[in-house]
Amino acid sequence: MKIVRSVSGARAAVRLARTDGVTRVGLVPTMGALHDGHLSLVRAAQHGSDLVVMSIFVNPKQFTELSDLERYPRQEAADAALAEAARVDILFAPEPSELYPDGFATTVHVGGPLTQTLEAAGRGPEHFDGVATVVAKLLLAVDADTAYFGQKDAQQVMVVRRMVADLSIPTEIVACPTVRDADGLAMSSRNVRLSAEERAQAAAIPRALEAAETAFALGETRVEHVHARVVAVLTAGGIAPEYVAFVDADSFVPVAEIAGPVLCAIAARVGAVRLIDNTLLTPP
Ligand code: PAJ
Repeated sequence: MKIVRSVSGARAAVRLARTDGVTRVGLVPTMGALHDGHLSLVRAAQHGSDLVVMSIFVNPKQFTELSDLERYPRQEAADAALAEAARVDILFAPEPSELYPDGFATTVHVGGPLTQTLEAAGRGPEHFDGVATVVAKLLLAVDADTAYFGQKDAQQVMVVRRMVADLSIPTEIVACPTVRDADGLAMSSRNVRLSAEERAQAAAIPRALEAAETAFALGETRVEHVHARVVAVLTAGGIAPEYVAFVDADSFVPVAEIAGPVLCAIAARVGAVRLIDNTLLTPP
């Protein structure tokens, strides 16, 4: 595995691989503190691409709370070992000053309803500006043919899809299923900050999503009713959600009836950690 720290280094490594016969470059963008969710994206990339680039960059521009940025887990040596064991070909791990040098003044802003609800409302509109800006830079730096994202961050995937379409960036965006721990909790780099007690509490989030799936499978399509079940499970587990939302899976506009694919999304603070998760409800 080659480790590169500059944009020019990443570009040169990819160009060299292409002259050696690589035709499909796959990028897995991450902020490190790698877990099986990240590694599942690497496996998807290995299926669809013949060169796998992983980026590790804790992107200051997408954090809306300084304490969250400061406490974000950083474990570069362990991450490099995990990436190498997963057979990542190139690890791109730049410093903030490499991606945002003095004088940096450009922001990629995705507009419309997609960036006004859920995570944008919860964390502030700068969050997705930061995501769109850094993902645009990463896709261009490694000349990615395909980039792999997790469905756990469903709104992020839609923002990235909108951004590449609008900027005519020729990268295919692939969304991969959410990887969960045995207790159902979606894997997240932030989970390490949960105490044992908080961790047990957090497991109410996937249970609440399951309750939504069950109600829907049994024929309940009225959002008001499914919403009530979700909130009941969360409340019983000691969780006061920041939001429980039912939105059209493409437009992210709230719906009252599950008539087409609907994303049921939850955000909740457990202790000092903000967690998100979701499930897709698709009528047969
Ligand atoms: P990060 O939180 O490190 O996540 C990197 C990628 O892994 C994202 O696409 C995310 O959706 C995916 N992922 C996280 N947990 C997952 C899980 N349990 N199952 C499947 N996939 C999972 O998301 C970011 O970083 C950043 O916003 C980034 C896209 C790198 C831009 O800075």
